[in-house]
Amino acid sequence: MVETIYWSDAGVVMIDQTRLPREQVFVTCKDYREVAEAIRSMVIRGAPAIGVAAAMGVAIGVLHADPGNLDADVETICATLAATRPTAVNLFWAIDRMRNLYRSLVGQPVEAIRQRLIAEAQQVRLEDIAINRAIGSHGAPLVPDGRTVLTHCNAGALATAGYGTALGVIRAAVEAGKSIDVFADETRPFLQGARLTVWELDQDGIPATLITDNMAGHFMKAGRIGCVVVGADRIAANGDVANKIGTYSVAVLAKENGIPFYVAAPVSTLDLTLATGAAIPIEERAAAEVTHVFGQPVAPEGIRVANPAFDVTPNRYVTAIITEKGVARAPYVESLQAMVK
Ligand code: MRU
Repeated sequence: MVETIYWSDAGVVMIDQTRLPREQVFVTCKDYREVAEAIRSMVIRGAPAIGVAAAMGVAIGVLHADPGNLDADVETICATLAATRPTAVNLFWAIDRMRNLYRSLVGQPVEAIRQRLIAEAQQVRLEDIAINRAIGSHGAPLVPDGRTVLTHCNAGALATAGYGTALGVIRAAVEAGKSIDVFADETRPFLQGARLTVWELDQDGIPATLITDNMAGHFMKAGRIGCVVVGADRIAANGDVANKIGTYSVAVLAKENGIPFYVAAPVSTLDLTLATGAAIPIEERAAAEVTHVFGQPVAPEGIRVANPAFDVTPNRYVTAIITEKGVARAPYVESLQAMVK
C-alpha cells in the first residue's frame, strides 16, 4: 500500500498527490510552513490525511521553535496550520489534540516536550490506519456481493494515513471474499477520482471503471450500481454530510433510484458542535481549477467562475454512516452521539 505520509529525521514526508498518477514523487517538508503549504496546495489532501499532516506540522514546528518563546510559537504554528483549509474538521481536531498535549506538558524540559509531540503525531498516523480498518470491517457486510460500488472523489489510502475510509470499506469487502467492481466518478474539477482513486484501486487489483461525474445517474437508472460509498469532510450532529463537491447530486440520484448511499468516516470527522450542515464552512478554491485543465485554458479568459470545493448532503439521503465504532442510522442526532461516547 502506498505511504501517504510519514515522519522521518529529515522532516514530514508525503507523496505529492498533485503529480499522481504520472509520477510518484515524495516531498519532505522541513518546517511547519512547508507542511501548511502542502495542505493548502493539495500536495496532501483528504480529511484524515490533512489531520495527520497538521499533527506532524505542529510537531516539526515545535522541534524548530525558540525554546524561550515556546507558548507563543505553538499558537502561531497552530494558527498557520488551521488557516490552510476550512471544511475538513479533522484538521482542527488534530491541531487541538496537539495543542492540548503541549499545554499539558508545559514546565517539562523542551527536549522532552519535543519528543512527546513527535511521538503523538506518529500515533495519530498509526491510529488512523487502525481506525480505517475498523471502518472497513463494519462497512464490508453492507456491500452487496457481486455488485458495483460507486464512489466519488478519493476517500482511499491517499486521503488517509492508509487503507482509506470509503475505499477501506471496499477493500474490506474484497478481503472478505466478495466480488466487487467499482465505478469511480472522475470528480471535476480537481479530478481526485481520475487521478487517485482508479490509480489506487488498480494498484490493489480491484476492478475499477472511471466515469465522468455526469454519467452516474445513467448507470444508476440502468441498474448497474449496487450501492454508493463516499467519505466525508465534516458531519454535523443531525447527520448532514459535507464531502467533495458533487456528492449531493450523487446522493439525490441514489435515493431516486433506490440505491443505498453510505458515508464512511472516522469519529474525528463528526462535528457535533454544529446542529446542521448549514453551519459547515465551504472552501472556495481558485477559479483556475475550473477554467484550466492541466495548465490548458478550457474557458474564455476572464469568465466568472464559482468553485466550491465541497457540498452538504442532507441527512435524509444518507442510508448509514459507517465509523470505527459501528454503523449509525437515522435518527442521527441519537446514533452519532452514541459514537462519541
Ligand atoms: O479536496 P479534497 O481532495 O481534500 O477532498 C477530499 C474529500 O472530499 C474526501 O471525500 C474526504 O476528505 C474524505 S477522505 C477519507
